[in-house]
Amino acid sequence: MTKLHFIARREYPAAWAGTRTVLRIGEAMDAKTVEASRSVISVVALPRDSNHYGFVYGGTVMGLVDQAAYAAAIRHARQPVVTVCVDHLTFLRPIHIGDVITVRASVNYAGRTSMEVGVRVETERLETGAIEHVGSAYLTMVALDAQGTPTPVPPLALETTEDHRRFREAQERRTRQLARVGRAAETADG
Ligand SMILES: CC(C)(COP(=O)(O)OP(=O)(O)OC[C@H]1O[C@@H](n2cnc3c(N)ncnc32)[C@H](O)[C@@H]1OP(=O)(O)O)[C@@H](O)C(=O)NCCC(=O)NCCS
Repeated sequence: MTKLHFIARREYPAAWAGTRTVLRIGEAMDAKTVEASRSVISVVALPRDSNHYGFVYGGTVMGLVDQAAYAAAIRHARQPVVTVCVDHLTFLRPIHIGDVITVRASVNYAGRTSMEVGVRVETERLETGAIEHVGSAYLTMVALDAQGTPTPVPPLALETTEDHRRFREAQERRTRQLARVGRAAETADG
């Protein structure tokens, strides 16, 4: 079930060779819409997913969040991507075994080589149809070439007011996050 991208640097799989997008100097990448990479994962929470309190184990949810973000980021970049930072992972309420967990991910921001992906986790109680928002997260993913070096991603084409708002908020989070890790001089736009 879990995709593996916990790979040490410079040990990238041979399969990644040839996935690199080669750009000539001065050539620009076509922008891609948020819609083009939107990703959804839905699973039924099974007893094997539970913690010792009888609810869904947080690590299971974190894995699903990372997978959905990975799918959205790689659909945007069409290159291998890794998670570099998880920001604001929030669990709002416990998830019951037997609920359907739906994880929706969309790219909020694309920089030069990084993307911020926003993720929303919802549950559906199958007996009643009740849907609840149970968690959210923002993940920063970086596209890598076959050598494991950050490589450019397409710009994000913003179509709706919502796209513009999410992009602005992602830029603000990026500025705060880079300052936290001592990269204050780096701005959201390069
Ligand atoms: C991803 C990785 C290659 C980036 O290396 P780096 O030396 O920071 O590379 P760069 O300085 O070129 O930064 C690449 C991009 O990531 C962004 N970035 C780097 N660290 C970041 C952080 N902590 N938070 C947010 N963005 C970050 C940079 O701003 C840059 O974005 P931009 O190109 O859009 O402007 C490196 O950190 C790595 O290999 N990490 C391990 C990833 C991994 O294995 N993840 C799996 C889970 S453990």
